[in-house]
Amino acid sequence: MTAAPEPQEPRALWASGSSSVPDEKGGGLFHDPVMVEEVLGVLEGARAGNILDGTLGGGGHAEAMLSRWPRCRVLGVDRDPDAVERAGRRLVPFADRIRILEMRFDEAMDDARMKEKGLEGALLDLGVSSWQLDADQRGFAFRRGLPLDMRMGGEEDGESAADFLNREPEAELARVFREYGEEPRARRLARAVVRRRADRPFETSDDLVAVLARALGRGPSPRDMARVFQALRIVVNQELLLLSQTLPRIRDALNPHGVLAVISYHSLEDRIVKGSFREWSLDCVCPPGLPVCGCRQRAMGAPLFRKPRRPTDEEISRNPRARSALLRAWRKAA
Ligand SMILES: C[S@@+](CC[C@H](N)C(=O)[O-])C[C@H]1O[C@@H](n2cnc3c(N)ncnc32)[C@H](O)[C@@H]1O
Repeated sequence: MTAAPEPQEPRALWASGSSSVPDEKGGGLFHDPVMVEEVLGVLEGARAGNILDGTLGGGGHAEAMLSRWPRCRVLGVDRDPDAVERAGRRLVPFADRIRILEMRFDEAMDDARMKEKGLEGALLDLGVSSWQLDADQRGFAFRRGLPLDMRMGGEEDGESAADFLNREPEAELARVFREYGEEPRARRLARAVVRRRADRPFETSDDLVAVLARALGRGPSPRDMARVFQALRIVVNQELLLLSQTLPRIRDALNPHGVLAVISYHSLEDRIVKGSFREWSLDCVCPPGLPVCGCRQRAMGAPLFRKPRRPTDEEISRNPRARSALLRAWRKAA
């Protein structure tokens, strides 16, 4: 078997939207929020209203809103108990205007208080937080000898990446590698996974490196690893499914003129956001060629800008993990 070389700068591959910055409050690490000014710019209309931060993380975006806009109220949710704990500490000065809940953003849409009052603004900053990436036992970033976990909500949050590799049929493995990792050798890789687990179950990143090396006939590059890790992270956390199910629910919870802002970090997420915003903004969905419109659809709102916004070069040089961030925003009609 070909020996796997040590990948170079593996963390630089990750579309995380984060960087680690020192936490003055206790020596830990805070997540450095991306595109803060741009996010505040698009959510400006919500400055005196109710805002959902569906991916609270370390609370950086929430803190920016709460400190800049003294009349806004924020519902901050995150599926990661660690995030809830960190953001809770950070946001103590705003305790009278923020409610923090440990849950997924799709679950937050059932919150009675939010449903009653509606939202003036909402933010989804997808991806993972810097401490999730940096915590070895979480298994998000590729480093040698670490558990294959990747559950954003911790050990109670469904099955780990190792469970997935040890259980799924070959065809499903191939689909996930192909669709979520855009892996060109998905079938070959799936076959190698099934062959390997018949001997010994997957436990650590080293097991995956060995299988990739066998499937590729060479040591996997950081790019090869990134594709497979991306696929596993997406499927373990049901990221795309939850995103596509939750976007319309947030749209429905927005009050007139309310704005939904989404920061995505890879093309699969961005495709869902772009497609949803486009579909909600159509005045007519009749098949082309009909002489008269029969669908009676009316646009529910419009995107704030056509092309996604990106971080400035200055932000990327300060926070390289921001470099794949794409911000889109949509405003509900009156
Ligand atoms: C990029 S970080 C957000 C950082 C945050 N904006 C800040 O300023 O610190 C993404 C966060 O979203 C959380 N997350 C991802 N998917 C989620 C979901 N479906 N429901 C709730 N939280 C989710 C992750 O646990 C992670 O903490």
